[in-house]
Amino acid sequence: MSLYWRIFLLNAAVLVTAVLLLLGPVTVSTPVLFGEAVVLLAGLAAMLVANAVLLRIGLAPLGRLTRAMAAVDLLRPGSRALVEGPGEVAELTASFNAMLGRLEAERAGSSARALSAQEAERRRIAQELHDEVGQTLTAVLLQLKHAADRAPAALREDLHQVQETTRSSLEEIRRVARRLRPGVLEELGLHSALRALTAEFTSGALAVRHFIGPGLPPLDDAAELVVYRVAQKALTNAARHAGASEVEVHLSHRPGGAVRLLVRDNGKGIRSAAEGAGIQGMRERALLIGADLALVGGPHGGTDVRLDVPVSATAGGPGRGNR
Ligand SMILES: Nc1ncnc2c1ncn2[C@@H]1O[C@H](COP(=O)(O)OP(=O)(O)OP(=O)(O)O)[C@@H](O)[C@H]1O
Ligand SMILES: [Mg+2]
Repeated sequence: MSLYWRIFLLNAAVLVTAVLLLLGPVTVSTPVLFGEAVVLLAGLAAMLVANAVLLRIGLAPLGRLTRAMAAVDLLRPGSRALVEGPGEVAELTASFNAMLGRLEAERAGSSARALSAQEAERRRIAQELHDEVGQTLTAVLLQLKHAADRAPAALREDLHQVQETTRSSLEEIRRVARRLRPGVLEELGLHSALRALTAEFTSGALAVRHFIGPGLPPLDDAAELVVYRVAQKALTNAARHAGASEVEVHLSHRPGGAVRLLVRDNGKGIRSAAEGAGIQGMRERALLIGADLALVGGPHGGTDVRLDVPVSATAGGPGRGNR
């Protein structure tokens, strides 16, 4: 039955009952007597309560749809409202579900475009840092060496100092360029890139170890980049927020051919911290390749960041092919 008829019939039932009561035992005099006023007010209250209860029952499916709408999160796609209730509500729920499908597809498309533009821009900046600033600083270093060789002894020490500063700036620029564009990923592949990443994050206070399983299926280019960026963001979070002393980066095989990245720290745990741009960025990247991302408490405290890359994102996996 349509929502219109449901509400109409509910109201009609209440009104007809009231009229039948008036035609039957109830009499109203003018002016109204106290006893009659009490009966009338009690009748009115009963009508209002009955109406409220019946409307609540009639509109319950709409309430459920509203709650489903409020809970939608496009970064966790796939959840749909249950299609139920009277005609229009079921239609509304079905249209909402269809709209959600379109929004998810649009969101996935636009974040794919944004992320690929971001990667292209990072590559361009890294290239320029390396080719322009890096080359200029290298030339400056050579000139400084030349000048120091010919300078009087009093100046030589100062020139050596400037040389050192320039050398460390050059190193810093190379580090920034490496972080912007994981060149090692393109040149040597994911496993070497992950090893380099763990080495980069290892410091006196933080030990980062990697465990890369044997016989892992190769991933396609897009999936390799996603795994690398998720590992990078997870390691950044572990170093910045966890207060951990040890982090492990595992890349392992899942039953059925999928690949799992696990970044496990022994820090204070993520608890119910609000997700920021970092974790949302991980989610967006995971969505790009249909991977599953979970941030959960580790078995001994700390935080586990888990990324399950589906078989379809392996090079040669169904639906993709070698790239
Ligand atoms: N490994 C972790 N251990 C403990 N807390 C964490 C960990 N990772 C994330 N958090 C908590 O989750 C919050 C959100 O992390 P997220 O990466 O989204 O943002 P951010 O690191 O604060 O900023 P951004 O990554 O954008 O620079 C952090 O502020 C932190 O409180
Ligand atoms: Mg972060």
